[in-house]
Amino acid sequence: SRTAVVIPAAGRGVRLGPGAPKALRALNGTPMLIHAVRAMAASRAVQLVVVVAPADGVAEVKHLLDDHALPERTDYLVVAGGDTRQESVHLGLKALPDGITTVLVHDAARPLVPVDTVDAVIEAVRDGAVAVVPALPVADTVKEVEPAGTPGDPEQVVATPVRARLRAVQTPQGFDRDTLVNAHATIALAGEGATDDAGMVERLGAPVVVVPGHEEAFKVTRPLDLVLAEAVLARRRA
Ligand code: CTP
Ligand code: MG
Repeated sequence: SRTAVVIPAAGRGVRLGPGAPKALRALNGTPMLIHAVRAMAASRAVQLVVVVAPADGVAEVKHLLDDHALPERTDYLVVAGGDTRQESVHLGLKALPDGITTVLVHDAARPLVPVDTVDAVIEAVRDGAVAVVPALPVADTVKEVEPAGTPGDPEQVVATPVRARLRAVQTPQGFDRDTLVNAHATIALAGEGATDDAGMVERLGAPVVVVPGHEEAFKVTRPLDLVLAEAVLARRRA
């Protein structure tokens, strides 16, 4: 079986504040996207990496990939992304060549995922799972809320799910290719959205299995996350 990774990297990074698109921001001098590509290509099972770039940044991303040392056993492709993460992943899936049977989807915004996590996801798909998510227990108690009836009033808590049963899911998420492509097509036709790829497969009624996630696979979302990411890189080099 052949394995490819789609890396959605076309977001603006609004929550990170003003600046370049998030995936192109530097972490210890190297663009976040390059860290993410290296993290995925570090797995010997990965034969192809498809980077989904900002629509106006395809040439720049191609140059970045050319200018940084990457494993030669892996092929790299760059395609233009869309207005939502879901659309960007869909555009990445459309670029996959024949012969790929296992697909991982990995956020460029999770640049520090360890290769052991990547391998664990791939192995679970090769062992027969159609969808795999790396996940961690949550530290905070999570509440479901609803908006206030009157604008300006505080929102109201409606439920507190049992924390021990909750998991925070990360990427890479791994899939049987046909299952993921089918899920994307079905959800798009229904005009629905999902915040992760496995969520679409769930809606098809297909089983999604969990493997252990990793603290270093956290998503760089807000400015404090950049501080943490650079500290993790500094610790790795020490
Ligand atoms: N992404 C994408 N295309 C979009 C939006 C997001 O490819 N239209 C990608 C991002 O580049 C990122 C991943 O999806 O690698 C996860 O999204 P998120 O962390 O939300 O990144 P952004 O959307 O860039 O950030 P923000 O929501 O703060 O603007
Ligand atoms: Mg976003």
